[in-house]
Amino acid sequence: MRRLLASSLRRRAYGGGLVAILGILVLLRLPVGGWIQAPGPATPGHGEMRCAQCHERAEGSLRQQLQATVQHALGMRETGADIGHRPVGDRVCIDCHDRPNDRHPTVRFREARFALARAERPVQRCTGCHLEHQGVRVTAPSVVCQTCHGDLDVRDDPVEPTHADLVAREDWTTCLRCHDFHGNHTHVVAESLADAISVDAVLEHLGSGPRAYGPVTHEARSTPQR
Ligand code: HEC
Ligand code: HEC
Ligand code: HEC
Ligand code: HEC
Ligand code: HEC
Repeated sequence: MRRLLASSLRRRAYGGGLVAILGILVLLRLPVGGWIQAPGPATPGHGEMRCAQCHERAEGSLRQQLQATVQHALGMRETGADIGHRPVGDRVCIDCHDRPNDRHPTVRFREARFALARAERPVQRCTGCHLEHQGVRVTAPSVVCQTCHGDLDVRDDPVEPTHADLVAREDWTTCLRCHDFHGNHTHVVAESLADAISVDAVLEHLGSGPRAYGPVTHEARSTPQR
């Protein structure tokens, strides 16, 4: 009985010690100072936003978060916990960027048929193409269309050169010269490359320069809808 008690006490002491050590390690690894300053310039249009508009605090106290993490690591708990802040999920973005007719809604890309695309880049999340703190609108390369449209063929193709031609010569930089990605601009799609937006204008739009596609259909909110 005594031995049992002693061993359970010892286990608790080890457990407590482990929590403390892990706590220190986590604190050392976390960019605690980084939270005073963002790790880079905001996405154009986000400059005036408060950090907490995207970074929500994780549930529970720091002690509870660390305990859950240790228990998860020891196999005593099915799920771990976020420490400090929760990862910024799509819901946060969509609360302000709600576009009912998005032609590429990220939820679709969770389907099994996009497994290969997801392996290339996490297209099922906004941050797959829009990392924050990089000072640009889009962090995916302009040729990102290739990830999913590699076998594109358009019936009665009105376009000169045809889509089949563009795909055959792997000319993926042309796509964004005629199409915007989310379909959220009052932009008229050209039928020939001669009338299309220039490559430079597209790159400026993906960066932090002037927008290339004219006014947006659904404006972003500066306060979330919920
Ligand atoms: C528009 C939303 C948004 C705002 C506003 C924002 N962030 Fe972030 N932040 C993100 C996203 C998304 C990430 C995830 C990684 C990435 O995109 O680079 C991130 C990553 C970070 C990271 C890296 C650690 C981590 O959790 O991935 C730090 C540190 C950070 N942000 C600090 C700040 C601070 C400080 C502010 C306010 C000055 C701020 N952020 C404002 C969206 C935002
Ligand atoms: C609190 C509301 C809010 C949240 C949350 C938010 N945004 Fe924004 N975002 C805006 C506003 C407002 C603009 C400026 C739009 C403008 O200039 O018309 C903007 C601009 C942008 C732009 C540049 C648009 C352009 O045409 O210049 C991108 C890209 C963007 N946001 C993506 C995101 C992503 C990805 C997230 C989630 C990580 C996010 N936003 C979270 C409100 C928000
Ligand atoms: C596969 C890559 C990809 C993903 C995933 C993605 N975007 Fe985009 N996004 C782009 C590209 C490319 C552009 C530039 C062309 C354009 O403006 O439509 C863009 C433009 C934008 C713009 C500026 C134009 C506008 O609609 O106002 C905003 C805001 C934006 N994205 C928000 C988001 C949000 C929010 C999510 C997640 C729900 C998301 N994006 C997911 C590639 C992506
Ligand atoms: C993650 C996969 C994925 C990526 C990346 C992607 N698309 Fe798509 N796209 C789709 C799917 C799925 C559809 C719906 C049609 C279908 O089922 O084939 C679609 C449809 C379209 C349409 C027709 C929309 C309509 O309403 O008729 C256009 C135009 C388009 N994509 C252009 C682009 C361009 C330009 C890029 C690169 C900037 C791109 N796509 C990147 C998956 C993707
Ligand atoms: C010169 C302009 C132009 C270029 C370049 C271009 N497209 Fe298109 N695309 C069009 C037009 C015009 C249509 C037909 C009308 C529409 O759907 O808007 C179309 C239709 C589409 C469709 C819908 C197909 C369907 O069956 O409904 C997809 C998907 C698409 N394009 C993807 C792409 C991709 C990916 C690229 C890059 C390889 C690309 N486009 C390059 C102009 C262009």
